[in-house]
Amino acid sequence: MTGAPQHKHLVFSGMQPTNTLHLGNYLGALKNWVKIQSEMPCLFCVVDMHAVTQDAGYGHPAELAQATREVAAAYIAAGVDVKRNLVFAQSRVPAHAELAWIFNCVARLGWLDRMTQFKEKSGKHKERASVGLYTYPVLMAADILLYKATHVPVGEDQKQHLELARDVAQKFNNDFAAPGFFPLPEPVIAGAGTRVMSLRDGARKMSKSDDSDYSRINLTDDADAIAQKIRKAKTDPEPLPNSEKGLEGRAEAENLVNIYAALADEPRAAVIARFAGRQFSGFKSALAELAVAKLTPIASQMRRLLADPAEIDRVLADGAARAGAMAAPILADVKRLVGFL
Ligand code: TRP
Repeated sequence: MTGAPQHKHLVFSGMQPTNTLHLGNYLGALKNWVKIQSEMPCLFCVVDMHAVTQDAGYGHPAELAQATREVAAAYIAAGVDVKRNLVFAQSRVPAHAELAWIFNCVARLGWLDRMTQFKEKSGKHKERASVGLYTYPVLMAADILLYKATHVPVGEDQKQHLELARDVAQKFNNDFAAPGFFPLPEPVIAGAGTRVMSLRDGARKMSKSDDSDYSRINLTDDADAIAQKIRKAKTDPEPLPNSEKGLEGRAEAENLVNIYAALADEPRAAVIARFAGRQFSGFKSALAELAVAKLTPIASQMRRLLADPAEIDRVLADGAARAGAMAAPILADVKRLVGFL
C-alpha cells in the first residue's frame, strides 16, 4: 500500500533565515550538526517559509533572499558536507506546504493553543499575529515527517514543537489506519552548556534581537570585534572557582566558562581545573584567543562563499532537487492514504 522506503536513522534540522547568525547558533546547533552528520544521513534546511510568519522576514524580499544565502553559507562554512548531506531552502520543495496543509487538518486547535512559543512571539496582541505564526509548529511537523526523519537536533525551546510533531504523526497513523507509517521523531537536545547566554546579562539567551551588539558574538565578527566583546563581557568581581559548584548563582561567569568548554570541546570541569583561582581578565584573554581561532575561519569561509552567490544557489538547487526526490514517494503515499485521487 505504501511505497516509500523507511530510513532507520535520518536527521532533519533547520534554521530560520532572519538576521545575523551568532555564537549561540553555532554552539547550540551548527557544531552539533557537523558532529551528527558523520553518524547519520542528514537534511539541513533553511526554513524560509517559517521566516515569513513574522515581520522580520515578511515584507522584506531582498533581505530574506540574502539571509537565506547567508544561513546556507554558514551551514557550509561550519562544516556541513553538502555532497553527503542535503542543504536546501524549504520554499524550493513545495511538498513541505502540501503536507503542512494535510497536517493542518490533523492537528487540533487545542494542541496549538498550548504552544508557549506562539504566546511569546504573538505577545499582547494575539489577534494581530499572522495565521502562519499560529500554525508554525504544523509546518515544522511537515518539514520533519515529509522525509520520515527519525532524529531532530533542536534547542530546548523547540522541544514542545517536536512533541506536537510526534502527536501529528501518531494521529495520522491512527486516523488513516497506517500503523508505523510515520515514525515518531526524537529530539536530539544539545548538551548542557551549549545554551549560550547574552554577554551582557547571564539570565537572557544570546539573541539576534537583542538591542546591544555587545550582547552577542556574530558569526561574521572579525577578530577585533570578538576580542573586544569578550573583554567587555559582564562578570562579577570574584576569580574563577575551584569547582563547578562555585559557578552557582554566577550566571555571567558560568556562561563564559560554558562558552570556553564548548569551543574547546572540553568538559567544564577540565576548564575550571585549569583556570581555578585566576582572575577573569586573564581568562577572558584566553577565551578571546580561542574564540578568534575557532570562529574567524568560519567567518572568512562565509565571506568567500557569499562573494559567489551563484555557487550557493547551485548548492541550494541541487539540495532542493534531491530533497524533492526523497519527499515525492512519501507525499504520494500520504495522498493515497488520505484519499486524494
Ligand atoms: N522552529 C525551528 C527554530 O526556530 C526551526 C525549524 C523549522 C526546525 N522546521 C524545523 C527545526 C524542523 C528542526 C526541524 O529553531
